[in-house]
Amino acid sequence: MAQSPFATDEQILGRTDVNDLEAIMAVVNTDADELVHAVKDNTDAIFTWDYEKGQRPALNKLYEKAKTAQWNAETDLDWSIPVDPEQILSSEMQLNGAGQFQALAEAEGSPFASFGEKELIELGVESMNWRLSQFMHGEQGALLCTAKIVETVPWIDAKYYASTQVMDEARHVEVFARYLDEKLTGSYPINAHLRMLLDDIIADSRWDMTYLGMQIMVEGLALAAFGFMHMMTDEPLLKQLLRYVMSDEARHVAFGVISLKEHYAGLSDAELRERQEFAFEAAVRMRDRFLQQEVWERMGIDTKKVVKMLLEVPAEQMVFQQMLFSKIVPNCKKLGLLDASGGWLRKRFEEIGVIQFEDWADTGEEYLQFDAVSQDRAAASAAATA
Ligand SMILES: [Fe+2]
Ligand SMILES: [Fe+2]
Repeated sequence: MAQSPFATDEQILGRTDVNDLEAIMAVVNTDADELVHAVKDNTDAIFTWDYEKGQRPALNKLYEKAKTAQWNAETDLDWSIPVDPEQILSSEMQLNGAGQFQALAEAEGSPFASFGEKELIELGVESMNWRLSQFMHGEQGALLCTAKIVETVPWIDAKYYASTQVMDEARHVEVFARYLDEKLTGSYPINAHLRMLLDDIIADSRWDMTYLGMQIMVEGLALAAFGFMHMMTDEPLLKQLLRYVMSDEARHVAFGVISLKEHYAGLSDAELRERQEFAFEAAVRMRDRFLQQEVWERMGIDTKKVVKMLLEVPAEQMVFQQMLFSKIVPNCKKLGLLDASGGWLRKRFEEIGVIQFEDWADTGEEYLQFDAVSQDRAAASAAATA
């Protein structure tokens, strides 16, 4: 039999079945107490001697926008607002019907069938601590990745833009770390599935893979998740924090879409297939991380049993998990990644139940609508002159 030139699922994911419970459970963070974590970044730093600014007008426009849309985490957010995590949760649960865990609690054989409202709120608070912790770690991943892009991308307009994103990501790490420390009730080490993905992105030597992994996949997921959280919460500090972070993130995803659109136009089918495989790997790692193994452990619940249940829930009932892909899929489509190589990625996205977002808005232009910082400044100056 002729050997396929393409990677197998075993090579891409380290397992042949996407839903292999044992393999998913085997990915755990055994270095939860480590203070630093080193990853080889396998790449050359690239100088360019072509300094002509604005050769790529869309990137230049994004750079100019980023310069005027900077904000200060210390002064532009009201950190004096008191936060009651249980209060956030109970309003979220009211808005969200009976809460995201109620259905699981009610399912047959549920390991937390005996949970009442008190325990469900406790679980919700832990889950929120976990979610915001993972966003904080992901933000640090973005900080390192964009610093790497400054070094590796060969275009001056992209180096300029990426430098503004380094500052944005520092601010995001800062706000999530402070919110967790001052306003919530505990934090979590990085989830091992997320760490595996961030390590893979950093370790890849090809400059465009940093973009694909971070700007399109991780940041696309973050933008969708922040949008969902912003909609669900009425805690004013978190709401404002997310609104400002999202206005930066929309630019970041646009940076990825604009840059890769140009670069991919010059790639061969075989090279595009490698990008598809990387996008699929990233999608599966991110889905795996949302199984939030660490939360079940901390709550003393049979983790394997819950993860098994979560893997068996029909995709269309996992509204939050599905919404996470609402930016990624249209952006992959815009980049030509869904249909290259005989529609390989389209089939994979069908299998994991997220293809329905393919015709949603892509983020190449959408960032202007997200510009909360400029909107607030315009409103403030209009009020001052009125
Ligand atoms: Fe960020
Ligand atoms: Fe970002």
